[in-house]
Amino acid sequence: MSDINCDQYLIKTEPYYRSVHNEVELYQAAYAARMPVMLKGPTGCGKSRFVEYMAWKLNKPLITVACNEDMTASDLVGRFLLDINGTKWQDGPLTVAARIGAICYLDEVVEARQDTTVVIHPLTDHRRNLPLEKKGELVTAHPDFQIVISYNPGYQSLMKDLKQSTKQRFGALDFDYPTADIEMEIVAHEGQVERAIAEKLVQVAQRSRNLKGHGLDEGMSTRLLVYAAQLIGKGINPQAACQMALVRPLTDDPDMRDTLDAAVNTYF
Ligand SMILES: Nc1ncnc2c1ncn2[C@@H]1O[C@H](COP(=O)(O)OP(=O)(O)OP(=O)(O)O)[C@@H](O)[C@H]1O
Ligand SMILES: [Mg+2]
Repeated sequence: MSDINCDQYLIKTEPYYRSVHNEVELYQAAYAARMPVMLKGPTGCGKSRFVEYMAWKLNKPLITVACNEDMTASDLVGRFLLDINGTKWQDGPLTVAARIGAICYLDEVVEARQDTTVVIHPLTDHRRNLPLEKKGELVTAHPDFQIVISYNPGYQSLMKDLKQSTKQRFGALDFDYPTADIEMEIVAHEGQVERAIAEKLVQVAQRSRNLKGHGLDEGMSTRLLVYAAQLIGKGINPQAACQMALVRPLTDDPDMRDTLDAAVNTYF
């Protein structure tokens, strides 16, 4: 639609993304087929960064929606708003994306209720349209439009999983924390620290990841390693940096904190 400023959704500078496997190639092929894509993986492993990078590489606008359980279909699709002239329809982010041909990234989509999630169904099959029931309009998706969703496997209960009829509308890419050498490269780049420091941070993280399911719900993410590196880069002593960025966010359990602090102390 002519009155939407598409430019605001374009990513102007190349985001730093270190490819881990063949995900760039796979995503490009999926985009070429306008296949909806699901990114699965734990928190802080690079899913959002990957979408930003792909949107930049494909030169397509990116509209990100953080999903939550209070979200309704209207929050995605749009609603009538009151203004001085009466009521005025306002497109929601999904509708804007469908109109302008953006990549619409629905982050943490399992958080949304199932009756909200089903509004994406007609956009994610051969129909490629979006009925605005309250407005009485059927929006046909722009040819460039694509839906990407993210999903943390394992975090959700049975009650909070996607329906099979939703899941089976997507091609899926598995994400995980990268192998040590790649993760080191990412931490050194993002945290602006020497490789030797990045290497130690990654070793601490790997220890914590082995404790997943043994007192920890999740190990330290790449995101936290970047935080620790950034603190060290600001002159903070590595042990204090690791406590603040790696150990304290992860757990409140005093014994587990001691275990993790000890792991930090063996490397720093
Ligand atoms: N492959 C990668 N290339 C570049 N940076 C990365 C990569 N993986 C992780 N990072 C770094 O880790 C940080 C966290 O990644 P990101 O925000 O993409 O995580 P996420 O998977 O979207 O997590 P969440 O599920 O919590 O939203 C990024 O800001 C970036 O610094
Ligand atoms: Mg994210």
